[in-house]
Amino acid sequence: MQSITGKTALITGAGRGIGRALAHAFAREGVHVALMGRTRANVENVENELSEFDVKTVSVQADVSDGEEVKEAVQSVKDALGEIDILVNNAGIGKFGRFLDLSEDDWRSVWDVNVMGIYHVIQAVLPEMIERQAGEIVNISSTSGLRGTEGSSAYSASKFAVHGLTESLMREMRRENIRVQAISPSKVITDFASEHNLSDGTEDREHFMQAEDLADVVISQLKLHPRMFVKNAELWATNPK
Ligand SMILES: NC(=O)c1ccc[n+]([C@@H]2O[C@H](COP(=O)([O-])OP(=O)(O)OC[C@H]3O[C@@H](n4cnc5c(N)ncnc54)[C@H](OP(=O)(O)O)[C@@H]3O)[C@@H](O)[C@H]2O)c1
Repeated sequence: MQSITGKTALITGAGRGIGRALAHAFAREGVHVALMGRTRANVENVENELSEFDVKTVSVQADVSDGEEVKEAVQSVKDALGEIDILVNNAGIGKFGRFLDLSEDDWRSVWDVNVMGIYHVIQAVLPEMIERQAGEIVNISSTSGLRGTEGSSAYSASKFAVHGLTESLMREMRRENIRVQAISPSKVITDFASEHNLSDGTEDREHFMQAEDLADVVISQLKLHPRMFVKNAELWATNPK
């Protein structure tokens, strides 16, 4: 195991849900945290919540689907906190419905955020990781990126793409001492799950994964000895009901 204390992490989609839980978990571990998000007020709120921890923080507004916005935001992060050791590509959206009911705009918006968003942030962060011959890239995918289900064609296609991107980049980067990995949860109780009716309202929330559980997994993966890593962690609730 290795310590991650004193490192700097950039989290996308850090304004709520899994990103917010990750921000708290990193700060508890003594990791400096950069919060990137679409809605400025959300990332600023999370930054305020982190003031109880003895770590440096910065929040930046950027839509990950916009390469120029991402470039500028990543530069602001580097100006404030220095080198980025850990990148967690967490920002993601879903559009669900039967194939013929999803519009071309639905498909494009999901693709632009879930796939091109990851592309833009990695483009902005990776060159310096290669220069330093060190770095961690964690892509939050989904079990929808491992198997398709009815009503999830656009989302599922985008998350399958995340796996292809992750595995190819992993193979290129491991010889640069950069670990690239995917985390693939099934349902996690967040606003995303409620907004997309992933629950039928009768379930016991306590039996499903929580954002904090995901954050625990990411932290424990990053603490693994640097000579190895888990390429994809598929996460299931033990006894959902
Ligand atoms: N919840 C689940 O059941 C589940 C299961 C498997 C995988 N996942 C994946 O886990 C990740 C996080 O999900 P979550 O449940 O925490 O979702 P969430 O509660 O909807 O939070 C998503 C975060 O991403 C941000 N975001 C969305 N589009 C963005 C963009 N274009 N640019 C920058 N930030 C953007 C949102 O910003 P705002 O602050 O503006 O809302 C929000 O803070 C996603 O990739 C999702 O696909 C979730």
